[in-house]
Amino acid sequence: MKTKLFGALVFSSFLAGQAFAGDKIVGGVKVTDLKETPYMVSLSGACGGSIIASNWVLTAAHCAGYFSEVKGGVLNLKEQGVTVKVKRVIKHPKYNRNTFSNDYALVELAEKIDFRTTGLKAVKLATPKFASEGNQAPGVDATVYGFGNLAENRQNYAKDLNKVIVPIVSHEEANSAESYDGAIDDTMIPAGYAAGGKDSCQGDSGGPLVVFDHRNDPVQIGVVSWGEGCAGANKYGIYSNVSGAYEWIKTTTGAL
Ligand code: ARG
Repeated sequence: MKTKLFGALVFSSFLAGQAFAGDKIVGGVKVTDLKETPYMVSLSGACGGSIIASNWVLTAAHCAGYFSEVKGGVLNLKEQGVTVKVKRVIKHPKYNRNTFSNDYALVELAEKIDFRTTGLKAVKLATPKFASEGNQAPGVDATVYGFGNLAENRQNYAKDLNKVIVPIVSHEEANSAESYDGAIDDTMIPAGYAAGGKDSCQGDSGGPLVVFDHRNDPVQIGVVSWGEGCAGANKYGIYSNVSGAYEWIKTTTGAL
């Protein structure tokens, strides 16, 4: 009985998540300079991702199966950019597709991206130390990027890279009864506004949530994972906590 109820809850949340498919990043603005996000990629127009090494991209585990190539160096998906085929996708061993716990995947590329000739670049990842120093504490402003293209509904041809600033929210708040009622575990970071209005949305999954360090370099702290609908009051966007997977990413890629 418990399982059945839980399944129904997850399923209805999933539907709610799709209902508002019309939107990409909600309440944001277009990115106008490629130099802001030299690490941003689209995974076959279905999901976002971030370059973390010349032959590795970080995305969400729930994106696995929806893409075969990675495109970087564009602000709109109609541009050609730099396209590389995927060699394999490794989902986090503890990924749970019912709860979205550990929603991380590593994408190994068939060839290395030449950072010198393409202008593309790897993004720094949040380490456990970076996280413990308050850089992703509740109240900190983070920025999420996405092409907002739909995996489920290709009728949405927004295709521009958008961004929006969302503050990190405490687990306590996101786990309250009017929000996600206990569904947020420590592999997840909630971010957004209690009043709603700004959020990531369908098609942004797998993309990066970043903060800027003391040198103003972007540091990726989250991966767009899930949410009930988009931008609704108390229904924050939920991001996979990169610092929590740092060691797994490091040992799996051998590249950090
Ligand atoms: N699961 C969605 C995707 O596959 C991302 C949803 C993010 N939702 C949100 N409200 N922030 O693209």
